[in-house]
Amino acid sequence: MEKLLIKGPTNLKGEVTINGAKNAAIAILPATLLINGICTIENVPNISDVKISCKILSALGAKITWIDNNTLTIDTTNITTSNAPLDLTSKFRASYYLIGSMLGRKKSIQVGMPGGCNLGPRPIDQHIKGFELLGAKVDVSQGKIKATADKLVGTSIYMDIVSVGATINVMLASVLAEGTTTIDNAAKEPHIVDVANFLNTMGADIRGAGTDMIKINGVKELRGNATYSIVPDQIEAGTFMLAAVASHGDILIKNCITKHLESLTAKIIEMGGKVEDNGDSIRVWCNSRPSKANIKTLPYPGFPTDLQPQIGVVLSIANGNSTINESIWESRFQYTNELNKMGAKITAQGKNAFFEGVDKLVGAPVYSSDLRAGAALIIAGIIAEGQTEIYNLDHIDRGYEKIEEKFRKLGADIKRVSE
Ligand code: EPU
Repeated sequence: MEKLLIKGPTNLKGEVTINGAKNAAIAILPATLLINGICTIENVPNISDVKISCKILSALGAKITWIDNNTLTIDTTNITTSNAPLDLTSKFRASYYLIGSMLGRKKSIQVGMPGGCNLGPRPIDQHIKGFELLGAKVDVSQGKIKATADKLVGTSIYMDIVSVGATINVMLASVLAEGTTTIDNAAKEPHIVDVANFLNTMGADIRGAGTDMIKINGVKELRGNATYSIVPDQIEAGTFMLAAVASHGDILIKNCITKHLESLTAKIIEMGGKVEDNGDSIRVWCNSRPSKANIKTLPYPGFPTDLQPQIGVVLSIANGNSTINESIWESRFQYTNELNKMGAKITAQGKNAFFEGVDKLVGAPVYSSDLRAGAALIIAGIIAEGQTEIYNLDHIDRGYEKIEEKFRKLGADIKRVSE
């Protein structure tokens, strides 16, 4: 078993370069199944969720070549089976995108029930509703999802709730459907725009991604033969921005789209942090103790749930009392128990958490309950006095490439050790 050992406190200083977005990559990889040909994808984050995606695509017949650490070519000319490996697909969340892609390409797919971070109930009723309205039959039983269709026909689909996954999945299933599909009350996250841009580059006809109404005109075939570069990861960028504030540091974050970070930038300024926005890079620094703030997580362009634990670390040491209302996931406050072991004073109940700001955190052994909780604990370890040990690194490795190396370059005393 591996763990991270961090000795603090450190004021983080220097430059960091952001990788491609995890949540775009793990949708774009299954989206390649819609292509009858070859494509090249650049700026792919080299993380364990991407490696699992590649294994699943290979099992379905795709030929994948890593050109360099962050570039892949994928040949999906011959897709030989519609049965995705159950063990791999049930390991992570984004395996649900195989359903939309394979319905489009082969009109048939069987996957294991999607796994992923334990954030509370994660229903997929809106995905299924969309597939059924397009003409598919979906059967969920014995830990498997089977979806089949004679043909898919475009239609109007209204999403009852704003869902990133359902919006992307229904978009995938509609690309090769007959006629036009509209998705109303669509999610607007930057990675939805990125998946649509990828598909359009490969020959699809999708309009309106990034607004709450997406229109997909079905095309006969996606031929590929093109190169696409994945959008920078706004959550990774936000993680380093909050690390700068928490550590009284000064970090230049390169390769990001600052427009995607506006809700966070506003909060950082409210908390007394300083921000220099250069469009494709952002410098964040903080010379004094951050001030209290109240946060409510919301779908984009609201404050992202995937940065909630990281800003929770800042609030734990802020001057004054703060609150967080988590409106997306029921179980996203598990990290607060770990921060309390480090001296924080946080009371979490249901969707709300109350933070009584303390002067400092103190190192302790802590357990990462999910990906973003893990990132938050790293920031906590860096600002805490003494030694912090972080366990359950699998969660962190799912979504952050070379995270300890990046923090080490910013001055953190952090190393990975095997027990
Ligand atoms: N929901 C339903 N029915 C559905 C789908 C969603 O009720 O059919 C509910 C969910 O239970 C949740 C809300 O709608 O309360 C939003 O869920 P959404 O579908 O938007 O989430 P997701 O697609 O499963 C993605 C990211 C998450 C991120 C959320 C919200 C992937 C693989 N995961 O999940 O990322 O928190 O969007 O932005 O893209 C992470 O990266 O750490 C992570 C958890």
